[in-house]
Amino acid sequence: MKLEDATLRDGRGSFGCVVSQVVSEGAPAIASLSGLVFRALGLPVMLLAAGCAAERPTDPFTATGELVALSGGDAGPGRACIACHGLQGQGDGELAPRLAGLPFGYLLKQMEDYADGRRAHPQMSEIAKALDARSRREVAAYYASLPVRAAPVPPAAAAPRIVALYHRGDPGRGLQACASCHGPAGEGVGPANPPLSGQPPGYLAAQFDRWRSSERRNDPQNLMLEIARRLSPEETTALSAYAAALSPASGAASAGPAASP
Ligand code: HEC
Ligand code: HEC
Repeated sequence: MKLEDATLRDGRGSFGCVVSQVVSEGAPAIASLSGLVFRALGLPVMLLAAGCAAERPTDPFTATGELVALSGGDAGPGRACIACHGLQGQGDGELAPRLAGLPFGYLLKQMEDYADGRRAHPQMSEIAKALDARSRREVAAYYASLPVRAAPVPPAAAAPRIVALYHRGDPGRGLQACASCHGPAGEGVGPANPPLSGQPPGYLAAQFDRWRSSERRNDPQNLMLEIARRLSPEETTALSAYAAALSPASGAASAGPAASP
């Protein structure tokens, strides 16, 4: 069965709600798809149905993306996004990032980069290649439409020099402030500069290692590679912990007179 055939009929329901409706109506296509989802994840119907009222994609494109997120689409039920990125796209708090509320352009670019090898990761490369271009767009649109939800990040007590690096950079080393692209609260700037706040610190730190090892080389003009090279691993680990724990309140606070290095 092609996933597209199972696009939600009313084009607006959350999959969880549709499952409970359809299972009771006995419509075979979606019921068998839901069977896959449940078998793959071992989740009871109730769990999916519980999220019913919260988020309802409003267009069929996004709703099909939700099916991919729940079922894994052509990547197969063992690859359902929610298995690693959480039921609400909040991430696993470790190495799988939050996807909820990231910009559509950024999410789509990452899916394309995994598919064509500019960004390499054992699981994600395989998953992105297994999806067709349309499914990659749909699932990106779905996650972009979700409200920001993040696994809790422990507040980090950052050294003043790390705070200063983030907010002011280090002109002596040719380092621009992280905040100029990622925002003072780590909220991201525009469709290309992703949010860092609410990402698992270990995930952010791992990205610096991937740039250094060239597993990730999808950044425009190698800009993050250059930054990664000018910072020590200790600095990137500390910056990752600091950025992950930023929130609108902390960003406003530290955007004031910066701490001395
Ligand atoms: C087996 C676990 C697993 C599954 C299943 C999975 N992911 Fe991932 N995903 C990861 C991990 C781990 C990373 C971090 C990889 C890296 O360091 O490059 C990641 C990274 C990503 C990123 C990059 C986000 C960023 O901030 O740059 C996107 C986008 C993404 N996944 C989308 C998806 C989608 C869409 C699906 C379902 C079709 C999916 N993932 C399924 C584990 C998974
Ligand atoms: C000139 C703009 C710019 C500056 C300055 C900058 N970044 Fe980035 N950063 C980006 C862009 C663009 C990306 C996404 C690249 C891509 O498309 O994969 C990115 C990605 C990242 C990521 C990966 C996020 C994810 O979800 O995978 C991390 C971590 C990161 N930057 C940390 C930092 C830190 C820490 C600093 C300061 C030391 C910094 N960046 C400075 C533009 C910038």
